[in-house]
Amino acid sequence: MIDDGIFLLTLTVLVIIQRLFFHPLRCFPGEKLAAVSLIHEAWYNTIGKLPLHAQELYKKYGDFVRTGPNQVSVNNVDALNPKHGIYERGPMYEIATLFGAAGLSTMRDRARHKIWRKIWDKGFTSAALEDYIPRVQYHVDRLMDVIQNSKEKEIRIDLRTDEFAHDVISDLGFGVEKGLQEGHGNREYFESIKLPLALVQPIGSLRMLGEFFSVFPLLKGNNPLNSAGEALFEARRSMGLSRKDIFSHLMSADYRTAPPHLVAFHGNELSSNAQVLLLAGTITISTTISMALYELSRNKDLQTRLYQELLETFPNSPYDEITVNVVKRLPYLNAVINETLRLHPPTPNGTQYIVPDDGRTIDGSWLPGGTVMRTCPFAIQRDERYFSQAEAFFPERWTTRPELIKDRNAFIPFATGPYVCVGKNLALQEIRLALANIIRVYRVSLGPSFNNKVFWDEWKDRFVLRIGPSPLVFTSRID
Ligand code: HEM
Repeated sequence: MIDDGIFLLTLTVLVIIQRLFFHPLRCFPGEKLAAVSLIHEAWYNTIGKLPLHAQELYKKYGDFVRTGPNQVSVNNVDALNPKHGIYERGPMYEIATLFGAAGLSTMRDRARHKIWRKIWDKGFTSAALEDYIPRVQYHVDRLMDVIQNSKEKEIRIDLRTDEFAHDVISDLGFGVEKGLQEGHGNREYFESIKLPLALVQPIGSLRMLGEFFSVFPLLKGNNPLNSAGEALFEARRSMGLSRKDIFSHLMSADYRTAPPHLVAFHGNELSSNAQVLLLAGTITISTTISMALYELSRNKDLQTRLYQELLETFPNSPYDEITVNVVKRLPYLNAVINETLRLHPPTPNGTQYIVPDDGRTIDGSWLPGGTVMRTCPFAIQRDERYFSQAEAFFPERWTTRPELIKDRNAFIPFATGPYVCVGKNLALQEIRLALANIIRVYRVSLGPSFNNKVFWDEWKDRFVLRIGPSPLVFTSRID
């Protein structure tokens, strides 16, 4: 027993010495604890503040910071230059297999990702997006009802946009009318996913701990995150293939029904892809709409500028229909959205990749093959080298002041390359339509109970960004 203890202690000391003094990444600066273990990263993931910590580290140590025994965090847009080729996804994405099975957004195997991606893409073609427009419009109308029914008293827009986005994805993704905005369905769902969401990233950092804890039900697949996706998938499956929605394309490659040569999804993989659609396609949207409204509430001049653009385009609202194809081309509306996505990216921690075996030189610094490389959009998009007045909300940089964008490649809210967000165009469609409808009709301001400290304390990166309580007041512009 004592011999075993001495052996383990000696081994631990040797590993620490190797990581600190003999590891190929020893020359990269960073916190000493991070060079020895990912506990450091797991802690910041537990409190949901890793993007803020990453920003501090870059200020202290420069663009390349060792943030794990075999991990370097890179604050340089050259890391994402296509000239470096396609990276494989890093080990943090393994977390999906602990929660069930991998979905598109966590699939590490490049070949399988490519096959799945082609199938997913069919749900987001221009023709498919055109078909979704009336349904998106329907749910935006319900959001407008919710705002109208608030009768100019403050409402928690963060909660209401969660319900809006959930209704849209249930409908377009699975043909299920949830009606959360109309007061139906399980409105406690968002509360119930808080704990599993909070566990995703810390366990992504410390996967061995995850395997240890994987015996617990919360991680085994019967947690609210998994079961919501599974329930939607089962409901969708009973409708058959004739109905066209996002999941009909995936189901056509299900091992249960597809001819053997077309099968791409085995076992419970369709359930985990349903979970991906539900998560990736909801919280990102609600955060962006809420954050845009928060910024417009604080910047009344910008709100007026946006209102003027909408007034000129749709002079007879509420009788003019605000259409997707018109709002797509509105410069100021799109500038407000871009600026929201720049300053408040809904996946602020970003991606994790593996440097190919032959290594890469990123902006003059050599990263050995096999290094785990993180890039953090939250820090990159707030970097003065890429955006002037980077910490300010300034939509004009996307319209009349292009000189305030020094490097467009540093705008990466939807990621880049083969893993770029598959739902980007649908997301923009929803966000544009919701914001245009709201600002055309309402003046938006922070509600009396809005608490700036609580709002930012509750700002947490949970794989996707969760924001604090956002009580806003909507005052009608129309008599
Ligand atoms: C403002 C809204 C959105 C933002 C900022 C956003 C951002 C991102 C980012 C950064 C990634 C790459 C993640 C990674 O590789 O680690 C991603 C992937 C993904 N997103 Fe989005 N997303 C948004 C909306 C949506 C919507 C509406 C859907 C579905 C309807 C969606 C579905 C997905 C899927 C399935 C992937 C995985 C893509 C792949 O691996 O090929 N996203 N998104």
